Amino acid sequence: MGPAILDDNHESAHLEFTPGTPGGVETVDLPILHGTMGPAVLDIRKLYTETDYFTYDPGYTATASCESKITFIDGEKGILLHRGYPIDELAEKSTFLKVAYLLMEGDLPTSEEYITFEKNITHHTMVHEQLRNFYSGFRRDAHPMAIMVGVVGALSAFYHDSLDIRDPQQRIIASHRLIAKMPTIAAMAYKYSVGQPFVYPKNELGYAENFLHMMFSTPTGSYTVNPVVAKALDKILILHADHEQNASTSTVRLVGSSGANPFACIAAGIACLWGPAHGGANEAVLNMLKEIGHKDRIPEFLEKAKNKDDPFRLMGFGHRVYKNFDPRARVLWKTSQEILDELGFDNDPLLQLAKELERIALEDPYFVERKLYPNVDFYSGFILKAIGVPTTMFTVLFAVARTVGWIAHWMEMIEDPAQKIGRPRQLYTGHTLRHYEPQTHHGI
Ligand code: CMC
Repeated sequence: MGPAILDDNHESAHLEFTPGTPGGVETVDLPILHGTMGPAVLDIRKLYTETDYFTYDPGYTATASCESKITFIDGEKGILLHRGYPIDELAEKSTFLKVAYLLMEGDLPTSEEYITFEKNITHHTMVHEQLRNFYSGFRRDAHPMAIMVGVVGALSAFYHDSLDIRDPQQRIIASHRLIAKMPTIAAMAYKYSVGQPFVYPKNELGYAENFLHMMFSTPTGSYTVNPVVAKALDKILILHADHEQNASTSTVRLVGSSGANPFACIAAGIACLWGPAHGGANEAVLNMLKEIGHKDRIPEFLEKAKNKDDPFRLMGFGHRVYKNFDPRARVLWKTSQEILDELGFDNDPLLQLAKELERIALEDPYFVERKLYPNVDFYSGFILKAIGVPTTMFTVLFAVARTVGWIAHWMEMIEDPAQKIGRPRQLYTGHTLRHYEPQTHHGI
């Protein structure tokens, strides 16, 4: 697969302006680029220099910010592919670390490649001892995402030997460090919030198992990881690993485009993910269900969601790209049934409420007409709740998983010869030129 190509016939879009346009140009031909899948794109890079026009696209709803070979989404059909593999096949048949390798390297690892990769990740799971001091600077009731933003950003003050982004070897070491240390940093944030001692990672445990061990074991007792729980967590990690040019990934690319170091870039991604419209939604779903409280109040909340004067939105519903069932939600729905059965949570009142809310919303014309379906965050919270992860840690787990996607995109961006510092333009609607006059202040 080469770079995006000009159509064989050098197809282009012909744009005609009415005479007297700002640049004096009346027509311009915009090349049409074709990827391997998905809609063709208009290459507008020369638009401004040739015509004096910008394009206006708040929220980038119709703008490709880069070329990428990592993830493909067809939102109308509900398709999500990583390096060509459907997400449901990866979730059923693969593991998080193999998917991490796939996203970063482009292909699934051979057994030798996997052994080396797994060893590299396992051997970077500990954090510098001094980093532990950061935690005591936070209030015990700090949101763990606030701690994540701070501590991950601070990694750049500890690992000076992997900050040179022009050195491919340093980029790889920084990537391995980030993937390896995120669960440790996340579990430490949790332990700090409950006043328990930090737990060191164990090299003999798998990625998800290690996270559970660091979250739930204490020095006073023995803790055995339930393999069903570890598998469910691994699946959640796979399903959250990457999602094309979403807000946090675009943030990482934008920050990285200035040449910032990888730890700073990932800290920025975490900050973006925290918002309730993005990764914070899984936490918001459970909070919303608690607020609804009883199925009799569902109609009242649906009315709130439909009311344009009310900022309330049905959390866990709708997606910028999917206008169909989120394929990750389908997998998670099945996993949530399995894990809740295993742990005896099937009669959980919040789960019952969620099922009822989903049923009613999917029949409501407002949601049907706008193609608002449950997204990945609608179900992930139930699994995490059932395995004992507190609500405030939900988005943290999302960040642990998405670190892999952020890194894959950051690497791809740095290696892209067309890469430029991200610098959008604007439609200015402020004052025109006016001159400064010294103010006379009455009464002073
Ligand atoms: N509840 C009520 N109305 C909604 C919702 C919702 N959850 N989502 C969209 N709408 C309405 C919206 O008001 C608009 O209506 P109208 O056309 O009458 O003005 C229409 O549906 C289209 O919505 P939009 O605002 O143009 O959609 P968007 O692409 O800007 O927003 C979204 C996407 C995910 C931010 C939004 O659907 C939302 O806020 N959902 C709830 C938060 C959530 O679950 N986020 C997790 C997303 S999946 C995880 C991830 O990838 O991070």
